[in-house]
Amino acid sequence: MTLISSDISSFPDFHPIPVQDAFYEPQRTLWHVTRYHEVQRILTDYHAFSSAHREHNPFRRQVAMGQFISIIGMDPPRHRQMRGLVSQAFTPRAIARLEPRIAQICHELLERVIVNGRMDVIDDFSYPLPVTVIAEMLGIPVGDRSTFRYWSNIVIAEDEAYPEDERKRVLDEMHTYFGHILEQWHKEPKEDDLISDLMKAELDGEQLSVPEIIGFCTLLLIAGNITTTNLIGNAFLCFDEYPDALAQLYADPSLIPNAIEEVLRFLPPVIALSRYITADTKIDGKQAQEGQWVLPWIQSANRDEEQFADAQVFDIHRNPNRHLTFGHSIHFCLGAPLARLEARVALEIMLARLKEIKRDRFMPLERIASQFIYGVKHVPIAFTPAV
Ligand code: HEM
Repeated sequence: MTLISSDISSFPDFHPIPVQDAFYEPQRTLWHVTRYHEVQRILTDYHAFSSAHREHNPFRRQVAMGQFISIIGMDPPRHRQMRGLVSQAFTPRAIARLEPRIAQICHELLERVIVNGRMDVIDDFSYPLPVTVIAEMLGIPVGDRSTFRYWSNIVIAEDEAYPEDERKRVLDEMHTYFGHILEQWHKEPKEDDLISDLMKAELDGEQLSVPEIIGFCTLLLIAGNITTTNLIGNAFLCFDEYPDALAQLYADPSLIPNAIEEVLRFLPPVIALSRYITADTKIDGKQAQEGQWVLPWIQSANRDEEQFADAQVFDIHRNPNRHLTFGHSIHFCLGAPLARLEARVALEIMLARLKEIKRDRFMPLERIASQFIYGVKHVPIAFTPAV
């Protein structure tokens, strides 16, 4: 166990709001909620705190993901029906079958860089891994992955980071891209990928609309890669800050799954969610009104001492560890088993093949431009290849 040092240089621009009573920000008509149990309650009460109503979201210009229809922005009953269409593909048992392929991708990625004795964890490994896996699951060309990366950057970025025209252009491009894939499917139907499942699916006797299918594909493509990329990147930031944790993992790799849970809690890739208030209600006992917004802060709730003893301590042995990084209740992350599997296999293979991993401290860490996602652009490391 290591206490946080006052120098948090491994975590650039990471400032969780201290746990406190909910407070209201009038300019943005927005409640900030930091207590674990209140965050959990808000995510559970989907009647009062809706995931739909994306169109007036104060954090995003209208163009964000507005033209796509995806389950993350739906309430029941449609949410339940749509989620049910793909949930079979994401059960822990279905996902476990992917392990050999994930391991093969990890080895291939390391083969390209191992002789150099250095690599960028993000560009060389933690970006290409999940995007390759989800592209193969969807049945879309893995060769387009640099395009997917650009799209993801735009979708998760703060409004100020890219001009509005560029966002519009990218959303149109995504629409056209998947439109072609669906047309192609009609000409040559396939059987064994997620797009085929969606093309064949019916709800109440009707097939899904094209915007619904495209919404699903883009959600899986973006939610499915940028978050896992940052989970693996953030793991290396934690190991850099707490080298004795890394030493323990080298000595006993069976600790890796537990360590991943602690990285998820301590340095979560998703730092906050948002909900729209549909009826006057109380938040932390304070009066909130219909039409206002709530930010349930995951990164704060994950450090609530009422839920986690010594919450400010990075402890890879922590158990239980009921962090909220995959959300809670009906929108609980569909991809959690996949993200956990990818991170475990990735770390097992990296620690087996790369010894004496050290972050290259000559290159300053730079946080990615996003209000809701935490990660850094590059994590350069040096290592000694295992013989
Ligand atoms: C470390 C990696 C990941 C993190 C931290 C994460 C986090 C989250 C969170 C917090 C939510 C809930 C959003 C809300 O309540 O508004 C969510 C939902 C979702 N995630 Fe993930 N995610 C990760 C990886 C993945 C992967 C690998 C996939 C798929 C390939 C995925 C697909 C989804 C989908 C489809 C939803 C929407 C579920 C629903 O609305 O019912 N995620 N994720």
